[in-house]
Amino acid sequence: MKASLIRSFGGPDVFEYTDVARPEPGSGELLVKVAACGINRYDLYLRMGAVFTDMAMPHVMGVDVSGTVAAVGADVKGWQTGERVIVAPGYPHDPGDWGMVPENHAPSFEVTGTHSWGGNAEYIRVPARFVLKDETDFSVTDVAAMPLVLMTAVHAVETLGEVKAGHAVLVQAGASGSGHCCVQMAKALGARVAATVGSDEKMDMVKAAGADLVINYKRQSFADVVLDWTDGAGVDVVIDNVGASVFEDNLRALRVAGIFVNFGLVGGMEAKLNIRDLFFRQHQLRGSFMGSLDELRRGWKLFAQGEIKAHVDRTYPLKDVAEAHRYIESRAVQGKVVLIP
Ligand SMILES: NC(=O)c1ccc[n+]([C@@H]2O[C@H](COP(=O)([O-])OP(=O)(O)OC[C@H]3O[C@@H](n4cnc5c(N)ncnc54)[C@H](OP(=O)(O)O)[C@@H]3O)[C@@H](O)[C@H]2O)c1
Repeated sequence: MKASLIRSFGGPDVFEYTDVARPEPGSGELLVKVAACGINRYDLYLRMGAVFTDMAMPHVMGVDVSGTVAAVGADVKGWQTGERVIVAPGYPHDPGDWGMVPENHAPSFEVTGTHSWGGNAEYIRVPARFVLKDETDFSVTDVAAMPLVLMTAVHAVETLGEVKAGHAVLVQAGASGSGHCCVQMAKALGARVAATVGSDEKMDMVKAAGADLVINYKRQSFADVVLDWTDGAGVDVVIDNVGASVFEDNLRALRVAGIFVNFGLVGGMEAKLNIRDLFFRQHQLRGSFMGSLDELRRGWKLFAQGEIKAHVDRTYPLKDVAEAHRYIESRAVQGKVVLIP
C-alpha cells in the first residue's frame, strides 16, 4: 500500500510517499481502508520530534481516520466489510488498560498514530473496540475532520468547563481546528461565546460557527473587549488552546470563581501564575487532554444531528502531506485540512 512515512524528525520535507506492506488485522482487530485522514496540529509536533522521540522508524502518523472496514480479524464479532467507520483518535494502547473508563485517564492512553501506525496510509490496523460505526452520510472529508476535535470539545467545554446555558465563554483561536469545534460546542450548550482570531479574514468563519463576538487580538486587547462585553465581570469559562502567550490575559478576562480550561500550547508552554490572584479570585485551572469514548460518542451525536459542523478548509492528496503541513504552519488555515490517500 502507499503511505507517507517519516524516517527521522524534522521539517515537512521529512515525509516520504512510498510503498509499504499492507497490514493484516490480528486477533481482535479490524483493517480499515482509509478514505480520508484529518491533520491536527499534533501531527506537526510529532513530525518535529516535539512530543515523543522514541517511536520506531520509519513511522506513519495520522490521527483522524474515516473509512470502511476492509478485513475483520479473528475473534471479532459485529463487523462487516464495507461498513463506514471512524477510528477513535486516542485510546489506551496496553490491553491491560482496556477496561479503564474514562479511557483518557489510562496510563497507556495515547493519540492514534503516535507509537502505532496511523492513518497517513491506504490502510490502518486498529483494535476493533476502538473503531466506531459512522452512520452519518456526510462526506468522508467532513467525517475525517471531526473525531479528535469533537472528543476534545466535549471533554474541555462540557465536562471540564462545565459550560451551561447562559454562561459567557471565551474560546481562544476560534478559527483553529479545535477552537472552531469548541465555539460550536459552547453554543450547543446554550452559552454566549466570544472567540479570538489573528486576522480579519477569519472573522466570518467564526461568526458562522455561532460566535456572538469575534475579536482580532492583533487589533484589540481581547481581555479588555471581553471585560466590556461582560460589564466588567469577566467570562464564566475560558477555553484555551494557545497557552503561555495569552495566559495572564485569559485570567484577567475570567470572572471570580470562573473555570479556565487549557488543552494547547501553540503560544508557548511556560507561563507566569500569580498565586495571590489565583486564590483571591478563586480561579479553577483545569488541564484537558483528549477525552473518553463516551465523550466522542456524545460529540458524534451532535455532529450527526448537524448541531456541530465540519469546516474543511482544504484537502490534499496524501502524497502532498508536506505541503499540507506547511499550510497549517502558515496559520492561514481555517478549520481543518484533510488528506486523501
Ligand atoms: N489536549 C488536547 O486534547 C488537544 C486537542 C486538540 C488540540 N490540542 C492543541 O491545541 C492547539 C491547537 O491545535 P489545532 O489543531 O486546533 O491547531 P490549528 O488548527 O493549527 O490552529 C492553531 C491556530 O492557533 C493560533 N495561534 C495563536 N498563537 C499562535 C502561535 N504563537 N503560533 C501558532 N499559532 C498560533 C493561530 O491562529 P491565529 O493566527 O488566528 O491566532 C493558528 O492558526 C495545539 O497546541 C494542539 O496540540 C490539544
